[in-house]
Amino acid sequence: MNDKFYITTPIYYVNGRPHIGHAYTTVAADVLARVHRLGNEKVFLSAGTDEHGLKIQQKAQEAGKEPLEFADEISAQFKNLWGQLDIEYDSFIRTTSPKHIEAVQKMLQKLYDQKAIYKGIYRGLYCVGCEQFLHEKDLVEGRCPDHDQEPEAVEEECYLLKMTEKQEELIRKIESKELQILPERYEKEILSFLKNQRLEDVSISRKNVTWGIPLPFDNDQTTYVWIDAFLNYLTVLGWNGEDTLPDFWPADIQLLGKDILRVHATIWPIILMHLGIELPKKLIVHGHILSRGKKMSKTLGNVISIDEMLEKFGVDGTRYLLLSAGTFGEDVDVTTERLTEKYNADLANGLGNLISRVVKLNEKLGVEAGDGARLSEPEDLTSKFNPDVFLDGIWQKIAQANKKIEEEKLWELVKSNETKARELIKELLWLLAQIAILLTPVMPQTAQRIKTILKNNQAEILFPRVK
Ligand code: MSP
Repeated sequence: MNDKFYITTPIYYVNGRPHIGHAYTTVAADVLARVHRLGNEKVFLSAGTDEHGLKIQQKAQEAGKEPLEFADEISAQFKNLWGQLDIEYDSFIRTTSPKHIEAVQKMLQKLYDQKAIYKGIYRGLYCVGCEQFLHEKDLVEGRCPDHDQEPEAVEEECYLLKMTEKQEELIRKIESKELQILPERYEKEILSFLKNQRLEDVSISRKNVTWGIPLPFDNDQTTYVWIDAFLNYLTVLGWNGEDTLPDFWPADIQLLGKDILRVHATIWPIILMHLGIELPKKLIVHGHILSRGKKMSKTLGNVISIDEMLEKFGVDGTRYLLLSAGTFGEDVDVTTERLTEKYNADLANGLGNLISRVVKLNEKLGVEAGDGARLSEPEDLTSKFNPDVFLDGIWQKIAQANKKIEEEKLWELVKSNETKARELIKELLWLLAQIAILLTPVMPQTAQRIKTILKNNQAEILFPRVK
């Protein structure tokens, strides 16, 4: 392992309350950050909100508020939620902060001076939900499939970023794994996209969107929200737009949902290449949490509330359910019923029950728990980042332990054969200590409580059943 580890989360749009889809990315990033902290590395986990652009301008207007006032409220909701979910982020960046704005303007001026940006005209179909220009082939029956909205035809004067001239170099960097994209099928998807068409130059400014960072070389235009947003990965580390880069750069892992992979694997690295800045090492891509078969979104009205989840399943229950809901990288459809079933099966019955059984059966014997081993191979969790597979491994151990208690009839052994009972309890306590350690990055409070229960040899209900 290296001595520093920088992991980023996407910055969230402040157009509506945070939901479980947002929590999914950030919880996953927090788990990775925690694993690396256990390995004694210097870790930086970034967080933040993406606050400019047409979507937010419109939402604020609908709410009868000034954009910044609107952004203040929702940004605070995200920050608050990360507190509730035990996210140990190191810094929270808002793209409306003066320092960020200044750095973005310096960077744009630099690109303009070196002629990577030029004035032109862009014609295209703009989806406000995506804050992106789409192509005919991206649409389903003329509508954006993610937002179920018809994009707006736009033709406007703007500034464009040269993309094509960097296309070959970008392909080489991805092929040589200088910029790695995981899971591999997403890398294949991006490579095939890059090899099968000429990259169009990207419009980096909007003429009629007032809620944005003014271009330093043309005050009639504001910066396209994605260009502004990408820079957060540097400004969150304190970068001021000058040549000296923060020590934590390059990012070791950038975690993101598949809907924002294309921009992260094309526009973002090409900006960095123009600026002569090293690329992030890895993009790790996850699928979407679906509800009723569609990506959860406020626009579609199929959102499962994160507040309800927290209330019902607690912090660690929520963290567990999010990460174990499905295969990381693929879409997963969730319903409150299925989450409830899984909570009762895995946490109330599986883990919670195992601990209370072992501790109760040990009440009279008082066998002492060992310390368990250290989390010896955090790489297990980080190399390919499959939190669901990792958790599944732990739950197999839990199932085996519960099975062993049944098969050996431990409750009878404690009366009939104390020596054998002690041996088995010792083995089980060691396993529980081990489980507590493995669970630390995913369920930090639970891990701590298990350790205390084992130390005091006193059962308590970790996960009350829910309806
Ligand atoms: N603001 C941009 C990101 C800029 S990063 C330089 C954005 N914001 S977002 O709020 O729409 O989405 C942020 C992240 O949340 C993305 O990684 C996205 O995939 C994730 N999710 C939003 N809804 C989701 C689900 N329903 N399921 C899983 N993740 C989802 O895009």
